[in-house]
Amino acid sequence: MVDCDVKDLGLAARGALRSAWAERDMPVMRSIRERFEREQPLAGTKIAACLHVTTETANLMRTLQAGGADVWLCASNPLSTQDDVAADLVSNSRIPVFAIKGEDHTTYYNHILAVLRARPQITMDDGADLVSTLHSESADLLDDIVGGTEETTTGVIRLRAMAADGVLRYPIVAVNEAMTKHLFDNRYGTGQSTLDGVIRATNVLIAGRVFVVAGYGWCGRGLAMRAKGHGADVIVTEVDPLRALEAVMDGFRVMTMGEAAPIGDIFVTATGNIHVIRAEHFAEMKDGAIVANTGHFNVEIDIPALEDMAVSRREARELVEEFLMSDGRRIHLLAEGRLVNLSAAEGHPASVMDMSFANQALSVEYLVKNGAGLAPQVYDVPGDIDQTVARLKLAALETDIDVLTPEQVEYLAGWQHGT
Ligand code: ADE
Repeated sequence: MVDCDVKDLGLAARGALRSAWAERDMPVMRSIRERFEREQPLAGTKIAACLHVTTETANLMRTLQAGGADVWLCASNPLSTQDDVAADLVSNSRIPVFAIKGEDHTTYYNHILAVLRARPQITMDDGADLVSTLHSESADLLDDIVGGTEETTTGVIRLRAMAADGVLRYPIVAVNEAMTKHLFDNRYGTGQSTLDGVIRATNVLIAGRVFVVAGYGWCGRGLAMRAKGHGADVIVTEVDPLRALEAVMDGFRVMTMGEAAPIGDIFVTATGNIHVIRAEHFAEMKDGAIVANTGHFNVEIDIPALEDMAVSRREARELVEEFLMSDGRRIHLLAEGRLVNLSAAEGHPASVMDMSFANQALSVEYLVKNGAGLAPQVYDVPGDIDQTVARLKLAALETDIDVLTPEQVEYLAGWQHGT
């Protein structure tokens, strides 16, 4: 019997079918898996993974397992688990999974502690809850750890803060910093999956709506681009002058959240920061405004303030909470303010997760070989891994690129040629 806590093992067949569907769009992952099967680079390595439990994650878990690893998996968000995928991994791959969609806070952290029972040598995190729990509650396990990987912007920021405070005890590879991760996953993945989540939750027409995107990092850029493509009138809010300027030149209206609040129809936060939408903004919003978040944590919208201001609340439809204000206005919060793309939709499509998770698999291989010699810092993904992932993806897309001629190599190396 495999150690696990999942919703219903009876969902395994559906999870297997859906994971196989995702695998069709993960050619880089497939090629890494084939090599891992032959070379067994992770033989005997115990990995504790804290990731969104999706069909794409299932393919990553099987790749690590094919490389010889013993993998344990828990959820990196209480609302993002696909219960059928969790069941499939337990039943068909004998991977211990601890994740149930909608789990409460206590269960969420108990599940993190459960994967630590594996006594891992490698951690794989998305948001840094696993690493922070390990440091604060299971520090006795730290001596066994060789290294870890981190998937997302928020997690990298937290881990860099741990390193700056001198408390990080082992090296972490920041997968998010790979070009083949953030340029595609954060931009095109978040762009598409966030709109998908808003649409699945509400079924509203995007065309003609005033769509407010808070934050113009890679995720905000992707979301603004896709909302515009759907015909929305897109407003961007920012705190960084360079990003704000970029948004202006990309053709968006840029203003403060205070100015956007009374004119927006749909608001989505993508900042990684706390209370980006708060009481003063709710006070100005139109009747029927829709508010959602696509950042990692559910802190970007000040939900306690919204709860305080409301005279009543009800579930308007699944994953849509309607808050009634004393003046009769209704504000609709999607997916409890948790990341809407994974809570109300299925997260990023497999084709982009293929590259993000290829970086994960290759970074784990790198840590198994080199982790012992690394200081407890946050490291970028080695450049050759990024290049390899890009080349494998291009090959899968049957896209050839040019090669520098000897004359061009010489030209680029010299300084003599001028005007
Ligand atoms: N993060 C965003 N989309 C995801 C997906 N499909 N699987 C795992 N993590 C994700």
